[in-house]
Amino acid sequence: MSGPVGYPAEGFDLANVAIQANPFPAYAWLRAHAPVYRLRDVPMWVVSRHEEVEAVLRDPATFASDLGMSVPLMSIVMKDAPDHTRLRGTINRAFTPRAVQHLAPRITEVAHALLDRAQGRMEFVHGYANPLSVTVICEMLGVPLAQRDAMNRHSRDALLASFAATGMGSAELLAEAREGLSRLMAILDAAIEAHLRAPSDNIISVLVADEAKGVLSREELRNLCALLLIGGHETTANLIASGASILAETPALWRQLKEEPALIAGFVEELARMRPPLQRIARRATRPVTLAGVELPANAMLMLFPGSANRDPARWRDPDAIDLKRDSRGHLGFGTGIHTCPGGPLARMEARIAFEVLLARSDSLQLDPDERAIPVVGYAAGNLGWNVLPVIRTEAKAAPMQSSQDATPQDVLETVCGIAATSLGLDRSDIDAATCAKNTPEWDSLAHLVILDAIEKALAVKLPRRAAYTAKDVGELVALVVATRAG
Ligand code: HEM
Repeated sequence: MSGPVGYPAEGFDLANVAIQANPFPAYAWLRAHAPVYRLRDVPMWVVSRHEEVEAVLRDPATFASDLGMSVPLMSIVMKDAPDHTRLRGTINRAFTPRAVQHLAPRITEVAHALLDRAQGRMEFVHGYANPLSVTVICEMLGVPLAQRDAMNRHSRDALLASFAATGMGSAELLAEAREGLSRLMAILDAAIEAHLRAPSDNIISVLVADEAKGVLSREELRNLCALLLIGGHETTANLIASGASILAETPALWRQLKEEPALIAGFVEELARMRPPLQRIARRATRPVTLAGVELPANAMLMLFPGSANRDPARWRDPDAIDLKRDSRGHLGFGTGIHTCPGGPLARMEARIAFEVLLARSDSLQLDPDERAIPVVGYAAGNLGWNVLPVIRTEAKAAPMQSSQDATPQDVLETVCGIAATSLGLDRSDIDAATCAKNTPEWDSLAHLVILDAIEKALAVKLPRRAAYTAKDVGELVALVVATRAG
């Protein structure tokens, strides 16, 4: 295996914006020539092969997450045992599969609503990927949607604050970022107070309950909420935007996924492997240790590259190619070990729904040749994705069955089952004609509305309101669609 000859001429540099925008050639060089490479200007080693990145993540006693530096937002991600164990217990109680699946109908609804407003030329990041992911976080935290834009801005501020705190930003930048961060905290405080007054059934309520039990301090609760916003927001939006740019540039892949939506989950997994939005994970050696033959002193700072590990040819065949059927288990896009991303299932579901709705609603997607796409670089350089992604989307002329008058009840059943599965966050195999609210806890009144809305859109049918609201199960919905279309 060999990287580009002589690359990188002046040494690998974390601040190089060309490398930030497309780090993969540099990663290939590092893996081949210096898998544990000491940066020239900073006493830090970058780690690029799968074997070592995984080993470091799985050995928290030797490689700590507490970097021994103070950043404005200290949270779980920079903690070690025993504090990490305690905070992680709370997070795990909050992110149950049920709590995550509960969000599926809303994600579907929001995705449709965003595309209703974005046809023809659109800026994909701010028109779709970003508002979708921030809406989900607002739902999780019980923050009113009216504050979505503020959440969006302040999440950036918080990232910026952490960046500036490392000494790389100016004093003005740091002051500006701290101001944004305190506004963000004020929004989160209001959400926490609202939950204390009237507990509701979403992810933040578990966190608030743990504070009441004394498991967490208020400071830890606020920081956790802020981390959920920051950790879950731009990362997921970047994953979706990365996928859209690949789809826009690969019409064959677009067609394949449109014809076989069941492959979308595999596409999302390949995205998380090939373009993980989080490209840098930091650790500190707690004792002198040798890694890939390189001796590291105690307190050595390490920067791990999951995006490089995930393309290590020693781990996967043809790692730079998307293979929808690949067994990509073991990729490190969501980390591994005790800090493994607890939001992974949510991010995967969100991205899957984002692409399902996008593909179902669009005939084509292409990069806008008249506008410039801007990659994420600079203060958010640890992320890989797009700040601006101008595209041209053609609204599907007709959903596949819209014009077909000869669709059989079996076709309608298939479509309704698919919609119910997506809306409820369940597997298609869990749904049949007998599926109903009584035997499916995810099917609440909100989910029912989302399902009706999706059926009307997909099948171009206007269902009679009363009958639609009172339909008891999938079978009754199918019968209603068939009867409405017939007459
Ligand atoms: C594509 C989207 C995402 C990616 C690529 C991603 C990636 C990661 C990675 C690599 C880690 C491990 C960091 C480490 O080992 O130091 C992590 C941790 C974390 N992520 Fe995510 N994440 C994503 C989405 C989310 C979402 C949606 C949430 C929540 C809403 C979330 C919340 C967290 C939290 C709380 C941690 C800290 C866990 C701990 O320290 O124990 N992430 N994430």
